[in-house]
Amino acid sequence: MISKKVEQALNDQIKLEAQSSQFYLAMASWAETQGFNGISTFLYTHSDEERMHMLKLVKFLNERGGTAIIPQLEAPPVEFQSINYVFEELLDHEVMVTQSINNVVDVCLNEKDYTTHNFMQWYVSEQIEEEALARTINDKLKMIGTDKGGLYLFDRDLESLAGTANDAV
Ligand code: FEO
Repeated sequence: MISKKVEQALNDQIKLEAQSSQFYLAMASWAETQGFNGISTFLYTHSDEERMHMLKLVKFLNERGGTAIIPQLEAPPVEFQSINYVFEELLDHEVMVTQSINNVVDVCLNEKDYTTHNFMQWYVSEQIEEEALARTINDKLKMIGTDKGGLYLFDRDLESLAGTANDAV
């Protein structure tokens, strides 16, 4: 049986993963309207991955005798200033998700819930990869600067990266 504190922490994480999925979906849709097909494919895939992160938590919590709450979500933005801005936001968001995962791990240890602690290790590893990927993308965009040709190639690169990221899941 799961403690109320762990249940609450997992439900908070369910909401954050759902919000992440919505946020990246909004980014994907905006990028698509701007003609960045590779970037939008990458972001659509990333949004799907966040939904999978949420589902994993929902199923685990229910299996452990808790009750997963499917949350109401705030509407994400419709417009974004630029591709650079999108990926800066994505990195900031992932850093915040990592902090939240660390908080769940903390609650597990305080509650001596080693089963959930063990389950959360998948998320700890996943966050290392997600942050690293977001940092790499931001570094590339900084190098490209305002070079339109560079951005065109970057868009094509991200399309293949979306395929790789999907295979890894
Ligand atoms: Fe599920 Fe990108 O954190």
